[in-house]
Amino acid sequence: MALRTILTAPDPRLKKKSLPVTDVDADVRQLMDDMLETMYDAPGIGLAAPQVGDLRRVVVLHIDREDTKVGPLFMANPEIVAASDEDATYEEGCLSVPEHYSDVVRPARVTVRYLDRDGQQQELACEGLLATCVQHEIDHLDGILFIDHISALKRNMILRKLLKARKEKERDAADGKPEAKAKEHAPAI
Ligand code: NI
Repeated sequence: MALRTILTAPDPRLKKKSLPVTDVDADVRQLMDDMLETMYDAPGIGLAAPQVGDLRRVVVLHIDREDTKVGPLFMANPEIVAASDEDATYEEGCLSVPEHYSDVVRPARVTVRYLDRDGQQQELACEGLLATCVQHEIDHLDGILFIDHISALKRNMILRKLLKARKEKERDAADGKPEAKAKEHAPAI
């Protein structure tokens, strides 16, 4: 397994639509394993392949919290096949939008269909944080970030701050300063 670099907004690769996996072969399993390791290292509870610059429809998830324990899950070609009329609001974060959080409204419950790490088709009924996480990750596969669900004003403010933070990080790296690890508030997905 190997750690991969997590892209941060506004990287154009995060806005691209990913392509379906035709076969869950050794190469896809390697991607899944690398993504899981990268996600644990970040740390985060979900990661989509485009976040590491790979435009294939692959997602990994692992939620280990008091109210929700699920995973690790490996999903190829995940799709929402049912969604509740009822909505839920969660404060979302994202490893590609570091240190920014915002409330996002999504269906409270969804059913996701996907191919697992063995290429077997699975269906999973999701609610709570898992439902949020699955929808957030599938959005990534369609080039959508959680900040695309909030007001343009707030989105642009976050993108400006991310660019500024990136420039500061590059300047610190040039000065030989060690990289500071981000503090997490809500889980980053
Ligand atoms: Ni994310």
